[in-house]
Amino acid sequence: MAPARALALVSLLAVAWLLAVAAADDTATSTSSSSPAPAGWLKANATFYGGADASGTMGGACGYGNLYTQGYGTRTAALSTALFNDGASCGQCYKIACDRKRADPMFCKPGVTVTVTATNFCPPNYALPGDNGGWCNPPRPHFDMAQPAWEKIGVYRGGIIPVMYKRVPCVKRGGVRFAINGHDYFNLVLVTNVAAAGSIKSMDVKSSGSDNWIPMSRNWGANWHSLAYLTGQMLSFRVTDTDGQTLEFTNVVSKGWKFGQTFASKLQFK
Ligand SMILES: *[C@@H]1O[C@H](CO)[C@@H](O)[C@H](O)[C@H]1NC(C)=O
Repeated sequence: MAPARALALVSLLAVAWLLAVAAADDTATSTSSSSPAPAGWLKANATFYGGADASGTMGGACGYGNLYTQGYGTRTAALSTALFNDGASCGQCYKIACDRKRADPMFCKPGVTVTVTATNFCPPNYALPGDNGGWCNPPRPHFDMAQPAWEKIGVYRGGIIPVMYKRVPCVKRGGVRFAINGHDYFNLVLVTNVAAAGSIKSMDVKSSGSDNWIPMSRNWGANWHSLAYLTGQMLSFRVTDTDGQTLEFTNVVSKGWKFGQTFASKLQFK
């Protein structure tokens, strides 16, 4: 083959590969080996937790509870202080790949990405140095991933791998869901199944008899509260995601609701 034609073929293959990286998830793609990290990708490290069935990832600092029934499954991660942002990152989605350039090739599954939702906080461990066990200590960006998600990109024996990551829009089935907890004068609402940004910046609540939106505060993770007496009243929520999109979930909570009930809307962020 003439050198020029061979070069053209190689370039074509390279382009096809790059396109595959952009489109694919949990599938074989190419991670660029040129430095620095490709545009839009940031550097971090990643470990795993929670066991082969991810049972140990249930609960978690975002408050999503049972991740299987809530639809998050085993594609989840706990974020270090630098990434968790006091819970403001809860629900965000990240595409992660082993950084072949920095990794021990024995422990890296190159050409694969996995997308996870932030469901937990990886706390600092100041008893251990950041480069030897204190992986989640500030200022380190670190993903402690559910083991099945991590094993998509890393080899179990490796334990920790350097990764590249970028935030991506979350893909969800169905609408946003609201679970009501707390008690009288302490209305605690867990917001789950948020698509696109995935994370909530602010929200208000309104009872059907009123014209006033009552601001809610982030209580912990994806739980928001107000101190108004709302028990049993038909409720609407006005929610702004961290990308600035606002949706009104009119009368999404029906009259006569009980603490512990979950209400699914038909509306979803785009
Ligand atoms: C990943 O871990 C290595 C080893 O501790 C460290 O040198 C590197 O700075 C870490 N990367 C990031 C982005 O924190």
